[in-house]
Order: sequence, then structure tokens, then C-alpha cells
Amino acid sequence: VPGPSSLDMARAFRSVRADPLSFLVEVAERHGDLVSFPVPGPPALLVNDPDAARHVLQTSARHWGKQTVQYAALARVTGPGLLASAEPTWIEHRRLAAPAFHHQRLEAVGDQVRAAADGAIAAGLSRSSVQDGAVVDVAALTHRIGLDAVGRALFSADLTGHAQELLDATSEAAELVVRAGRAILPIPDRVPTPLKVRLRATRRRLDVISAQIIAERRVRGHSGDSYGDDLLGLLLDSGLRDDEIRDELVTMVIAGHETVAAALAWTLMLLAEDQPAQDRVRTELASHPGPVPLVGHRDRLPWTRAVVDEALRLYPPAWALSRRSQQPDVVAGCEVPAGTLVIISPWLLHRRTDTWPDPLAFRPERFLGEGAVRSGYLPFGQGPRLCIGREFALGEMVLVLSRLLPSYRIDVTPDWSRPQAAAQVAVHPRGGMPLVVTRLRVP
Ligand code: HEM
Repeated sequence: VPGPSSLDMARAFRSVRADPLSFLVEVAERHGDLVSFPVPGPPALLVNDPDAARHVLQTSARHWGKQTVQYAALARVTGPGLLASAEPTWIEHRRLAAPAFHHQRLEAVGDQVRAAADGAIAAGLSRSSVQDGAVVDVAALTHRIGLDAVGRALFSADLTGHAQELLDATSEAAELVVRAGRAILPIPDRVPTPLKVRLRATRRRLDVISAQIIAERRVRGHSGDSYGDDLLGLLLDSGLRDDEIRDELVTMVIAGHETVAAALAWTLMLLAEDQPAQDRVRTELASHPGPVPLVGHRDRLPWTRAVVDEALRLYPPAWALSRRSQQPDVVAGCEVPAGTLVIISPWLLHRRTDTWPDPLAFRPERFLGEGAVRSGYLPFGQGPRLCIGREFALGEMVLVLSRLLPSYRIDVTPDWSRPQAAAQVAVHPRGGMPLVVTRLRVP
């Protein structure tokens, strides 16, 4: 299998760290759809072919686990929560959590997500300067919304009191997890590197807040013989230990707010750059009778939903998924031994010219009509480990646009250049997303 040599990797060391996304693009351009990295031990492969990706993530998923350095790094913060855990814990916890994400339940929490969006918009855009247009970091706004939506919809909790501490701790966790995940070989637990010490401290910060959320809920108590239908209620009713519940809470906070916040910030940037597309969202929203619900947007608001789908194609927050084979397998026609590491990058797959003509262009119309969903489109992953929050996230994104765009116009700044896409736990805009927000005058 072709790939960069050890010397190439040594030369690229700094650029890999500074901008892993460009490195991946370059490596795939130079070496093709299956790339081998020079590491000691079992092979490490970059798989950039939609069929081979489906094989690993879906068809042959039971032979591919999450025992990778990246997930081990995440587990240092989240513990064995849903995202990082393996069988048999994973399937048991997935079944417990699933009802909190069912269609009916999501229909019921639309009001909570709407309140989260309205609260953050009111707080963030109430400055009078916005009347005539002001530069606002919309990434900070979307972070607040993402966090508040998770708190209200999944934990029935008001996280405002914990917001700053949670935002700080999760962003620190994201940075440290990425740094720990860069290690090619795991460092044994007994070696207390400074990074591990910081990771442990961050984990403690998140644990303290989670423990408070759990305690507050216990004090509120039961209604009937149950804690309720939200995720926290389900977990408390399930008989899981407190440390297990805490791991799931931290997982949901990290997986559920950073991703949506980043995706929304990129969506607003793309709409700021494309005023006709933004106007079309506004027109479609104006024709919607009553408040926009959290589910069922593809039929009701096809353009707005297509905008979201296209933004997730161009800026998939989860930019790299990793798996390790538990037995020999065949990937893209190549026999691989047990222990092989595979990296699948939605960022790369979403830029393939054979699937997406003019792949760097923002064209929501790709997602309108029949046959719009293509193989190799996997912002939420694929197969059994598909994102449990997919419907919630898509619904939240449309709903936030429906609360923001009817009242505000979003433009790029006069000296506009796109922020760099920084690949951390999610692909987020480095230095924030400063856009000009102007309050629209109601005619
Ligand atoms: C899993 C992306 C929002 C919770 C995943 C995976 C991806 C993903 C790609 C699969 C990872 C893998 O296979 O290695 C996204 C994106 C989001 C988003 C792009 C927003 C735009 C959310 C939300 C929540 C959430 C809102 C919860 C509130 C999870 C969990 C898993 C997961 C718990 C692990 C599922 C399992 O393995 O059973 N997400 N996610 N995500 N996501 Fe999301």
C-alpha cells in the first residue's frame, strides 16, 4: 500500500500538528484512496474510499472496535461513556439512552431547544449596535445555544449557572484530548506525564458539575415511580451506578454541544457568503405556519434542511473516525491483519470529485430531491455506531436558523477571509467566527 515514508512524516511533523486537515488532503492526493502510514507494529491506514469506509463502519463493523489511541484519549475525559465504550457496555447503554432520542421524544422537546436558542440570541444580540450591524462572534453564540439545548432537552436542567465552567472545561478537554490522541503509541498509565495530569484535572472539573446535576435532579425527586423521559431520567431509573451516569453526562455534553456549535457557526458563515441562499432560507421560514418543530424538516423546510446538510458536507465537525480490526479482514482489496488501525475522514470523503462535482462550492441544491443522499456522506458516521444525536442535532440546527434569520441578517466583514478550520475534537473556526449581524426592521 503506498504512503509517506518515515522521512516524509518527520518532515511533515509540524504541518501535521498545525493543520491536520490540509495534511490529510495532501496525503490522499499524492497516494490515493488507501494510504499506509509508517508506524511500528500493525498497519495504520487512511481509507478514503466510500465502499471501503462502509465495509469497516457498517458491513464488517463487528470486527472493528474503537480500541484506538484517539478513543483512549477521549475516554480519559469521558470515561467509558457511549462514544468511547466497547461491547458489552456499549450496547446496554445505547439501548438505555435510545428512547431519549426517539422521534416522539424529540417532538416533545422542541420548546426546550427553542427556549435555548431564544435565550442565547436575546443575551448575545441585544446590544443596540446590532440595530445597524455589528461584528459578533457567532461561534460564541452557537456554543451557548448548544450547551443550553443539551441541558434543557436531555437533562431537564438549567446549565446557565454552570455554563462558563462547562464551556471552559470542555474546550480545555477538547484541546487535551487532541494532544493525547496524537501519540502514535499509548504511554502506560503509570507514567504521569504533564498532559495526563492536566487531563485528570479537567476530568475532575467535569465530574464535579455532572455530580451536581445528578444531585440536583435527585433532590427534585420522582414523579410517580420514574425520574422522567429525558436522558438523565432514563439513566437514573436504569439502576446504573453514579459514575456510569456521570460518564454518559460528560459524553453528551462534549459530543452534543461542540459539534452542533461548530456546525452552526460554519452554516452561518456559508450563508453570510451567499446572500441569495440566506434570503431563500428566510422566505421558506416565512411560509412555515407556526413555530418550527424539532423534527420533520426535510418535507416542511427542504431548502433550510439542504443548507444544513451541505454545511455538514463542507465542514463535518467529526473530521476523522478511527477503528482497529479485531481479526484479519480485507479492506479495499487489501488483506489486513488483526490490530490494523484505520482512519476514515468525512472531511476527505466529502471532497471527492467523483461524488461531489465542484466539491468546494457551497451548493445546497445537491441535497434537494430524490437520490440526494450519496454514499460517502457520513457527517454522523455510519453503521451501528452512528451518532445517537443525529436527529436531535439536525433538528437543532434548523430550529436555530428559524429563530435567528427571520430577525437578523448575517454578512461577512468588509475585510473578510474565512477563519481556518481547526481540527480538534470537532472542526471549529480558529479564533471564532466574526460575522456582521444586523437586526432586520419589521416592515
Ligand atoms: C457518535 C457526529 C451531534 C452524541 C457520533 C459519530 C459521529 C458524530 C461522526 C460516530 C463516531 C464514530 O463512529 O467513531 C456528530 C455531529 C454532530 C453530532 C457532526 C452535530 C452536528 C451529537 C449530539 C449528541 C451526540 C447532539 C448528543 C446530545 C453522540 C454519541 C455518539 C455519537 C453519544 C456515540 C454513539 C455510539 O457509539 O453509540 N457523532 N454528532 N452527537 N454522537 Fe454525535
